[in-house]
Amino acid sequence: MTRLLHISASPRGQASESLSLAEAYVAAVAGRPDVEVDHWDLWDGSLPGFGPDAAAAKMAVFAGEEPEGDAAAAWQRAIAAFTRLDAADAYLLSVPMWNGSIPYVLKQLIDVVSQPGMLFGFDPEAGYSGLLAGKKAVLVLTSAVYGEGRPTSFGIDFQRPYLEWWLDWAGVEDVTTIEFRPNLVTDQVDLVRAAAFDELREAALKL
Ligand SMILES: Cc1cc2nc3c(=O)[nH]c(=O)nc-3n(C[C@H](O)[C@H](O)[C@H](O)COP(=O)(O)O)c2cc1C
Repeated sequence: MTRLLHISASPRGQASESLSLAEAYVAAVAGRPDVEVDHWDLWDGSLPGFGPDAAAAKMAVFAGEEPEGDAAAAWQRAIAAFTRLDAADAYLLSVPMWNGSIPYVLKQLIDVVSQPGMLFGFDPEAGYSGLLAGKKAVLVLTSAVYGEGRPTSFGIDFQRPYLEWWLDWAGVEDVTTIEFRPNLVTDQVDLVRAAAFDELREAALKL
């Protein structure tokens, strides 16, 4: 059984480009008896925060201590979120560009689940090692203004490099990135969108 976790970061529901592209991928694999799909809509209110208690817990754990009281409770919430992430064999992340980077709910998820002994190991001499090795990921990235080859007055991409770095840091090596970045002024939007849908369906064959 392959467990696919679709993590969606757009709050735009039916109007979302990234969500509709990701849904084409899910539709292509959902009928398979060997695939189980979980959808984590990061706007559904289930994602815990990561504030003073959680940060204190993280620093305690890093120092080899047990978090206590409110910090322990916050740590349990982080563990529960990581457990849902870790239960998957493959990830589908649908992510719009927000202000050159990613929507804050996705950064919140990353801050909640990226924990020592869970997502990464750490050695004072060798540095970090990702603990999600063996899992794979498909990134569906959208933007409306930024696009490769456009002048920097159309923006700079901190979305794709950040997410690809995070997955690499976590040990996920098999990553396919599919972009849909129609320029606001292009007359080729439908063609570019159709090409992205084709890429998604093709990627789904490799799950
Ligand atoms: C809060 C916000 C910030 C955005 N920032 C950018 C940006 O920096 N660069 C860009 O090209 N598009 C930006 N956009 C446009 C979206 O990236 C684009 O419309 C994308 O396709 C939205 O994905 P979605 O339809 O899945 O929500 C922004 C949109 C929103 C709502």
